[in-house]
Amino acid sequence: MKYGSFVILALHCLIAWLAHAWSKQEASDPGTGSHLTAVKGTPFPSLIDVTIDDLQNGLQSELFTSVDLVKAYIARTLLANVTLNVITELNPDALQIAAALDAERAVGMTRGPLHGVPIFIKNTIATADKMNNTAGSYALLGATVPRDATVAAKLREAGAIILGKANMSQWSSFRSGNSNDGWSAHGGQVYGAYYPMQTPSGSSSGSGVATSLGLGFASLGAETDGSIVSPSQRNGVVGIKPTVGLTSRHLIIPISEHQDTVGPMARTVKDAAYILQAIAGPDPRDNYTSGIPNDGKIPDYVAACKLSAFRGTRIGVPRNLIQLGMNPDSAVEVLEFNTAVSTIRELGATVIENAKYAGIRGWSESDAERIVLGADFISNLATYLSELTFNPTGVRDIISLREFTRTFAAEMYPSRDTSRWDELIEKYGFNNTDPRFWTAYKEGVHLGGDGGHLGALQRFNLDAIVIPTKLANGFPAVVGSPVVTVPLGFYPPLHPVRFNKKGNLVATGPNIPFGISFLGRKWDEAKLIGMAYAFEQKTMTRNKVRPYFVPNIELGDIVGH
Ligand SMILES: *[C@@H]1O[C@H](CO)[C@@H](O)[C@H](O)[C@H]1NC(C)=O
Ligand SMILES: *[C@@H]1O[C@H](CO)[C@@H](O)[C@H](O)[C@H]1NC(C)=O
Ligand SMILES: *[C@@H]1O[C@H](CO)[C@@H](O)[C@H](O)[C@H]1NC(C)=O
Ligand SMILES: *[C@@H]1O[C@H](CO)[C@@H](O)[C@H](O)[C@H]1NC(C)=O
Ligand SMILES: *[C@@H]1O[C@H](CO)[C@@H](O)[C@H](O)[C@H]1NC(C)=O
Repeated sequence: MKYGSFVILALHCLIAWLAHAWSKQEASDPGTGSHLTAVKGTPFPSLIDVTIDDLQNGLQSELFTSVDLVKAYIARTLLANVTLNVITELNPDALQIAAALDAERAVGMTRGPLHGVPIFIKNTIATADKMNNTAGSYALLGATVPRDATVAAKLREAGAIILGKANMSQWSSFRSGNSNDGWSAHGGQVYGAYYPMQTPSGSSSGSGVATSLGLGFASLGAETDGSIVSPSQRNGVVGIKPTVGLTSRHLIIPISEHQDTVGPMARTVKDAAYILQAIAGPDPRDNYTSGIPNDGKIPDYVAACKLSAFRGTRIGVPRNLIQLGMNPDSAVEVLEFNTAVSTIRELGATVIENAKYAGIRGWSESDAERIVLGADFISNLATYLSELTFNPTGVRDIISLREFTRTFAAEMYPSRDTSRWDELIEKYGFNNTDPRFWTAYKEGVHLGGDGGHLGALQRFNLDAIVIPTKLANGFPAVVGSPVVTVPLGFYPPLHPVRFNKKGNLVATGPNIPFGISFLGRKWDEAKLIGMAYAFEQKTMTRNKVRPYFVPNIELGDIVGH
């Protein structure tokens, strides 16, 4: 702990010095600052654009080390933290882990494509190290777990460096009726980097911003209904929401076992595919993973990244949902989306323009998902809390959690209320072993599946559905099917600034990004990744607009200093 604080303090000094040196340099000699220089004529990759392939080339050719990478990313994170509040905690052991991985590489041992690559994880994914896992709540500060969450353990086995925990919407947006995306009691407010006071969206808010700005190489997010795809689109990155059960949820602070899933948020589809490859797979501690087909054998998601992925496919556009679901302020998203549909046709797909969802009304009038999430939360939260090896607040279920949250001042009750839990306790009051749960679950799966994209895939004999990311979450959430979102466009420079409901964050405005999503059947990740890759390579949208804030520390400022 002391070592960690020292490293962070030392880095603070380094940053102050670098910022000073850099501003002087920029004034006198723009464009040839030390951060652009290279080793033996090979330039350093820019950390806001770098891919896994670039990092592996640089590490393998000794252009830089993983220790250099960690130092550069920490320096960038500390700079961004001042304005954007992206990262809750840095891993105090990150430099030592990087040094150990550098030593392995030096003797010819590389574990794979993620060897020595620093990655952030959402602050719901537990690690058995010095870092806290709180979902942004003081109720869990200082609590410990018996082992790493399975996905965190898998990242480490693959050689990734867990660089820190990303701030998020508290309890993955499952606490208040009057809060907003990206806020948590223990984390404060995360902001997006494309417009001042931009909503980062949620709930994997910090994961999205950190990936977008290259504060780490990429991040893990988690989604129950929109929490990967939505912050991915609003921060201009790629997000994969895997089939529920493809990635283990063991030791992840839950909302719902039927809907929760963990996936990568990265700047390119291929990078996201590399990360998914590392974290997917069966886990005896999460029996939903026993549903993975082919005896749990995971397809090669990286090899699925093919420019020809659309050739011979049938892609459906659910126009009826788009007409109902997009408001006049998002007309620009629909306009870009329509251009994208033409691009997809040019890439070799047969587009079925009116692949209607049959049951939008029944779905939107149903309470089924609300009941499922609530009943699951009561059960799954208690299970997570029962696994803790040290639990300083003694919170053990939804009742004691609500009591703690309402009485601990920093939890900001009642200006951030507990209405999601009040409803569970006072209105529904049953967990997921109750027959009323199963009725709701079956209703949700029927309305959301047959009445939504699964029904359309079936009736129109489609390979995938394509839709603006704003509408990509709800139906796949209830049936547990995968979504891949890719950057599609940006609001134009003169677009009016519109605030969120609470009036404290910019929801849409100049330069704010949006995405396009590919939806399929359960376990269809490889197919969707292929399409997302072909579309991304054809359009390369992410690089067309830069965030207004980009930390100005690069590898060249670190290597050799
Ligand atoms: C997120 O979390 C930290 C620590 O919990 C908080 O102080 C800060 O305001 C938020 N932003 C950070 C750390 O980037
Ligand atoms: C980020 O900034 C906040 C307040 O400005 C601070 O409390 C927090 O510790 C910082 N986080 C990191 C990782 O330095
Ligand atoms: C975890 O939380 C405890 C209690 O607030 C704090 O002392 C510790 O520094 C935190 N760990 C890290 C890595 O920030
Ligand atoms: C997982 O195990 C629980 C009981 O431990 C059982 O109720 C549930 O049906 C199992 N789920 C799957 C997908 O096998
Ligand atoms: C669910 O509720 C029933 C009935 O109140 C109770 O007996 C059971 O222990 C609860 N199970 C979980 C996992 O919370």
